[in-house]
Amino acid sequence: MNFKEELGQKTEKIESVIAGVLPREEGYQKTVLQAMNYSVTAGGKRLRPMLMSESAALFCDAQDVRALPMFMAALEMIHNYSLVHDDLPAMDNDEYRRGRKTTHVVYGEGMAVLAGDGLLNYAFETAAKAFDDCRTSDEYGRVAASVQILARKAGIYGMIGGQCADLEAEKAGDAVTDEMLLFIHEHKTAALIQAAMMIGASLAGAGRDEVARLEKCAYNIGLAFQIQDDVLDVTSSLEVLGKPIGSDEKNHKLTYVALHGLEESGKQVEALSREAIDILASFPRRNLFLEELVEQLIYREK
Ligand code: IPE
Ligand code: IPE
Ligand code: MG
Ligand code: MG
Ligand code: MG
Repeated sequence: MNFKEELGQKTEKIESVIAGVLPREEGYQKTVLQAMNYSVTAGGKRLRPMLMSESAALFCDAQDVRALPMFMAALEMIHNYSLVHDDLPAMDNDEYRRGRKTTHVVYGEGMAVLAGDGLLNYAFETAAKAFDDCRTSDEYGRVAASVQILARKAGIYGMIGGQCADLEAEKAGDAVTDEMLLFIHEHKTAALIQAAMMIGASLAGAGRDEVARLEKCAYNIGLAFQIQDDVLDVTSSLEVLGKPIGSDEKNHKLTYVALHGLEESGKQVEALSREAIDILASFPRRNLFLEELVEQLIYREK
């Protein structure tokens, strides 16, 4: 099987895992459930659950890790909540996401706030269900560690922290330093990618050292991913990307591209990704699909 076919098959599997946990659209809270599902079922690359299961596969057969699907779905829900809120008029004020109107355009701002809140809570409800299937104290320990990673990397010391600095940097203009930009990228974007890889590894029984090496690997992947996202915000189109280009300029965001130009940005994406691949290749159980995935992200067009 070639890489593209394998990627397609694995993405389909992730889609069915996600579909399996989505709430039914019924009851007096039906509208918020529809808004949640509207956002989550719009597709997207499903990169974070993919990185989670592939990181687990570095340590054992991912099929054997019972808690994995719950955490894959949970992380994708948190990612989706971050996008629903990120697109709000009070934040990036964008009208398209994954080729569709954004959640607040379709359901209104109040409902989009609630859909994001709903996804965040339902994510932890879903992850916590993994405790039900634990049989040994080892398994309990791994699930407990994973819940902690998820909470930390999504929260004030992770994604939310990064989004805070990102918003404030809009007002700082030229005063934004490389150091601030690095903080923003590490937290708003790399943190959820770190959660993906660290949880995959932890659930599969990896040790502290191995999880720490993947945390560094995911830091590189996350930084490269955000720089490429900022590149595409300049070079792509709404048709290809599914979201509006020029969003960063509109919001006066000083990005890596604005600071260093397109050419240097491309070089950074490549260098960061190669270093990440070297880390992956240093594990005794190689995952060539995962290495190829990181390689392909260098050239991604959406
Ligand atoms: C977009 O993430 C937000 C960023 C962190 C740049 P993705 O590019 O993974 O979005 P989807 O899930 O594929 O739509
Ligand atoms: C967002 O970064 C990262 C999140 C935590 C949502 P961007 O604002 O650049 O993401 P896009 O371009 O809207 O997807
Ligand atoms: Mg943003
Ligand atoms: Mg945005
Ligand atoms: Mg962007």
